[in-house]
Amino acid sequence: MSGLTIALTKGRLASRTMSLLENIGIHCEEMYTDTRKLVLEDEGAGVKFFLAKAGDVPTYVEYGAADLGVVGKDVLLEEKKDIYEVLDLKFGKCRMAVAGFPEGKQLLRSGADFKVATKYPEIAREYFLKRHQMPEILKLGGSIELAPIVGLADVIVDIVETGSTLKENGLVVLDTVCPVSARLVVNKASMKIRHEEISDLIRRIGSSL
Ligand code: PRP
Repeated sequence: MSGLTIALTKGRLASRTMSLLENIGIHCEEMYTDTRKLVLEDEGAGVKFFLAKAGDVPTYVEYGAADLGVVGKDVLLEEKKDIYEVLDLKFGKCRMAVAGFPEGKQLLRSGADFKVATKYPEIAREYFLKRHQMPEILKLGGSIELAPIVGLADVIVDIVETGSTLKENGLVVLDTVCPVSARLVVNKASMKIRHEEISDLIRRIGSSL
């Protein structure tokens, strides 16, 4: 293998991704230091890594700045980029859910106008469209649970992992949109041009899961 570049998602998925790569002999100790370097490398394995914000990983992969990437299914569903999703890595498991105060269930059924706060406007729009509903969708950058509490929105569409953020704020899951986990994605041209190396990497990662 030589010179493959992998885009990793900053935050919760990064350390799980590094452990996965370590299992197949790709190491990058520098990742655990407080280096300010943006692109790191395992020279022995000939693999470069960089960390990017979740929502940006599919863009780096689509345009070939990275041959491969690791990112959540939530981001893939939201970003809809022209890339191959080749493996479910089975970590970073959580679910995309509609949540709110328990009364929200009634509101969702009633067909009345309501507001939805989310970091995932596309996923939310599609979910409600399937139910023939077109609520006002408000895009927020984070702390989505705040929106129903302070009266900005009636319900939220957001990631639920342990459920503790909802619980501690008196909110409940009203419906599950879809399960989410980390996925391995590949640039389409890289898959053609570097088919052997990439297939070998996918096979090794797949059998280490
Ligand atoms: C995510 C998500 C929820 C929380 C759910 O937020 O948006 O707020 O985690 O986790 P739980 O079910 O285990 O409580 P994240 O911590 O990524 O930060 P954010 O609110 O800034 O998006």
